[in-house]
Amino acid sequence: MIKLNHQNAPLFEALLTYVNNETIPFHVPGHKKGVGMDQQFREFIGTNAMAIDVTVFEQVDSLHHPSGPIAEAQKLAADAFHADHTFFCVHGTSGALHAMILSVLREGEKIIVPRNVHKSVTTGLALIGAIPVYIQPEIDSMTGTALNVTPETIEKALQEHPDARGVFVINPTYFGVAADLEAIATLVHEHDIPLMVDEAHGPHLSFHQDLPMSAMEAGADICAQSTHKIIGSLTQSSMLHVREGRVDHRRVQAALNLLHTTSPSYILLASLDVARRQMMTEGFQLLENIQSLSHQARERVNAIDGFRCFGSENNGKPGFYGFDPAKLTITCRDLGISGHQLEGLLSREYHIQPELSDLYNVLCTLSIGNTQEQIDALINALGSISQSYRHNRIPSSSGTDIVIMPPIPTQKLSPREAMHCDTFLLPLWESIGKISAEFLMVYPPGIPLLCPGELISEELVLYIETQREAGLWIQGTEDPEVKHIRVVQTLEEEPDGK
Ligand SMILES: Cc1ncc(COP(=O)(O)O)c(C=O)c1O
Repeated sequence: MIKLNHQNAPLFEALLTYVNNETIPFHVPGHKKGVGMDQQFREFIGTNAMAIDVTVFEQVDSLHHPSGPIAEAQKLAADAFHADHTFFCVHGTSGALHAMILSVLREGEKIIVPRNVHKSVTTGLALIGAIPVYIQPEIDSMTGTALNVTPETIEKALQEHPDARGVFVINPTYFGVAADLEAIATLVHEHDIPLMVDEAHGPHLSFHQDLPMSAMEAGADICAQSTHKIIGSLTQSSMLHVREGRVDHRRVQAALNLLHTTSPSYILLASLDVARRQMMTEGFQLLENIQSLSHQARERVNAIDGFRCFGSENNGKPGFYGFDPAKLTITCRDLGISGHQLEGLLSREYHIQPELSDLYNVLCTLSIGNTQEQIDALINALGSISQSYRHNRIPSSSGTDIVIMPPIPTQKLSPREAMHCDTFLLPLWESIGKISAEFLMVYPPGIPLLCPGELISEELVLYIETQREAGLWIQGTEDPEVKHIRVVQTLEEEPDGK
């Protein structure tokens, strides 16, 4: 329930008071309100930004031990994002996910995680020495992209691993596909363990009822959001939300204190404070606008020869419970060009920069900052590209082949054990029977085929070679051509290639 005054922005206001008092800065940072900074950079960035680039003192509070304006700003954020406690993060959602893992799990404990988690989750698990139990998300056969996980997949994993200490879900995915989080929360809580959610792409969800339900509203116990990705805070600024009960907020603060810099940027922190205020005061209308822009954009993309753009018509399919319309996945395989080529064309020839591309798709992320003119420019560029490449066009039926993933390999070592071992390089074909020290992914769908600590099988190497021959991208190893892979050195081995 909303109870506080969201017109206030206590941290930003404390910084403005510091500036208006013309406080004399005998504190770091060294540029002292921009005076000691390179002139061209200062003039470009502006002296206002420099004036609030301060450090920890009582008037502006401490991120590690908040008791003043940061504490108040975090309390307002908790109220806005339906949490009991909210923590501001200046290391992005990557840092927030590390803190989440550190505050929930202990060394040797198991966690159920989708195979396509962000690398910060795997590195977080490696830091603490937790054991991932991987589950596969569903895959869309047309775009080749990973969808979300189903409650059934999670239920099966919980039955097979009743000793798991947490379940981790991504909501929504990079491509905007939401999971049935309410059903998942019920299942997870039947085992009395926390539901942990990576909502990097969903900081806007709770501010409009037509969007998929946010993790905190669906019953998650802890959730990290990249406020900077979709709503109005600055790059690197994220939030970590906690529901008291299965997660102890004191452990979360302790984990953040372990990981955070002691010199957090107050520009980033203040941008989180005002992003919350903006969402609480004008969020509904801003999100209404962006939804109508994105619905219109999706229809116009689908009307262009050679392009497709999926949306909420898929709601209800396995792994596709809901959809965030702000994500435009432009599938170009019918036009006979790769997503990578399309991204290059848009960027070089039209100065339009998408978020990412893979073999079949280009992902454009819309947010409250996009305009009708920008959508028009994108549609016009796609129209021209369609005209130029339509001779390449291939029958649309070819866009429905099924991506079959090989089974998840046997885990021999935890990610941490694998990372701490001595390793050596081997040609891929000679690595069969060894333990991988690296990731290996095929794009699409970009789901790891192999993670550190897992056994390399002949079946897997054959699969990789087949995918390579089919023109898919193999990535993840130190060797950019993925002809070699780094493997764990066991006691008996005296390698040549170390
Ligand atoms: C699903 C997902 N989780 C976490 C992250 C990390 O977020 P950040 O860039 O805020 O560190 C990303 C980044 O793209 C992501 O896509």
